[in-house]
Amino acid sequence: MSVNKQIRKVTTNTLQKLKTNGEKISMITAYDFSFARLFDQAGIDVILVGDSASNVMAGHESTLPITLDQMIYHAGSVIRGTERALVVVDLPFGSYQSNSEVALASAIRIMKETGAHALKLEGGEEVVESVKRIVSAGIPVMGHLGLTPQSIHKFGTYVVRAKEEAEANKLRNDSMLLQDAGCFAVVLEKIPAELAKEVSEKLNIPTIGIGAGMYCDGQVLVMHDMLGINTEFKPRFLRTYLNLAEEVTSAVKRYINDVKNKDFPSESEQY
Ligand code: KIV
Repeated sequence: MSVNKQIRKVTTNTLQKLKTNGEKISMITAYDFSFARLFDQAGIDVILVGDSASNVMAGHESTLPITLDQMIYHAGSVIRGTERALVVVDLPFGSYQSNSEVALASAIRIMKETGAHALKLEGGEEVVESVKRIVSAGIPVMGHLGLTPQSIHKFGTYVVRAKEEAEANKLRNDSMLLQDAGCFAVVLEKIPAELAKEVSEKLNIPTIGIGAGMYCDGQVLVMHDMLGINTEFKPRFLRTYLNLAEEVTSAVKRYINDVKNKDFPSESEQY
């Protein structure tokens, strides 16, 4: 089954129903109007305005530099391109870690200024108070556990997380805390498939995996990775559906040639 045409507008309730019915959830990142519109029309369930915009849109080495204002700009553009999908926006680094009051203020800014449907933030126990406060303001929150890129300087590397029992136990506990705090779903990034299976079976809310194997309730990929725009990034978990870097380079080379050879524009392409 590809696209569920019965769903008119995807909501957090829809995702819950998909999990209950055993139908997988599809999620992809987008950062602008045009791609969001294409993904929405293709029938994607969830569009994530990820703070990976810091890497793939702005060229930073990590997700840390992107600001709340910049996330709001990207989110507003994505919302304008979306009719059906649920749009989830990342709270960027520094916009929620200090305390729950700051977290709520950042959350309200995103919701008010972009029209987004839900937010995502990284971490477990340490963000539970913020999750509760945001949820109690009526804003749906998605959690994010495992490899959490905003903490990359604490981890030191992007290797698979929670392979050791102590870290796996913390993740098990954090996932329950996030569910109890009111999260509607949790992203599990780069953890062993068996651990993701266990967590997905234990939680009532859906899990969305990236590098977390086949047992998650849904999957998410960064658009630049799955479309083959970003060719340097080749982790084992990534499936590339297009070689857009090659396609774009070849198209632009042909255009340059046509201009240089005075072949473009032709008589029929002028007024
Ligand atoms: O920012 C992002 O793209 C993400 C995904 C990797 C889940 O958080």
